[in-house]
Amino acid sequence: MILEAKPSSVSAVIMTQVVLPYHTNVAGNMHGGEVMKLMDTAAGVAAKRHCLNNVVTASVTQLAFLKPIFLGDLVICNAELTYAGRTSMEVYVSVKAEDMNTGTFRDVCEGYFFIVSLDRNGSPAPIPPLLIESDAQKQQCEAAKLRIEQAKKAKQTKKV
Ligand SMILES: CC(C)(COP(=O)(O)OP(=O)(O)OC[C@H]1O[C@@H](n2cnc3c(N)ncnc32)[C@H](O)[C@@H]1OP(=O)(O)O)[C@@H](O)C(=O)NCCC(=O)NCCS
Repeated sequence: MILEAKPSSVSAVIMTQVVLPYHTNVAGNMHGGEVMKLMDTAAGVAAKRHCLNNVVTASVTQLAFLKPIFLGDLVICNAELTYAGRTSMEVYVSVKAEDMNTGTFRDVCEGYFFIVSLDRNGSPAPIPPLLIESDAQKQQCEAAKLRIEQAKKAKQTKKV
């Protein structure tokens, strides 16, 4: 079956969350795990929108917490496909925090999520190709291929 290519704009998603007390650590900052959960969810939604199958996260790379997120901030999570392979996708997730008292925004977190499409039996399933529409997307896709190679090498090393 030939699957029709889709642009990343079809599957890109923005998810938001107000930071409440139960999201914070003892210092009053948003707990890293809470940010990662939101990022993983956004990446999964973008991937599922692309392939319309169940998806699982296989690995995450270059996850960086750039600045703290505080109680009461609005967390804005952007997820967009950068690469689609045969059954796997890379989703770039970037997170901004909005200070609701000043209306200012900070880049707080980013990372690359590798997500695999699964069929009804839980086996990796073919996905539509990603339609590249700009030079910037082409560059992102080439960079993603290098990260995928690194992830594959890391997986092979663990098997030894
Ligand atoms: C992800 C998973 C399905 C891969 O299974 P697998 O048998 O290794 O699959 P394959 O070797 O056939 O690889 C399938 C695709 O996944 C990619 N992949 C597998 N492991 C990967 C990893 N660690 N990082 C990035 N990509 C990976 C492969 O490159 C391949 O992509 P392609 O088809 O586009 O070339 C399996 O490891 C799994 O179920 N892991 C648990 C996932 C999970 O529970 N996540 C947390 C909850 S969502």
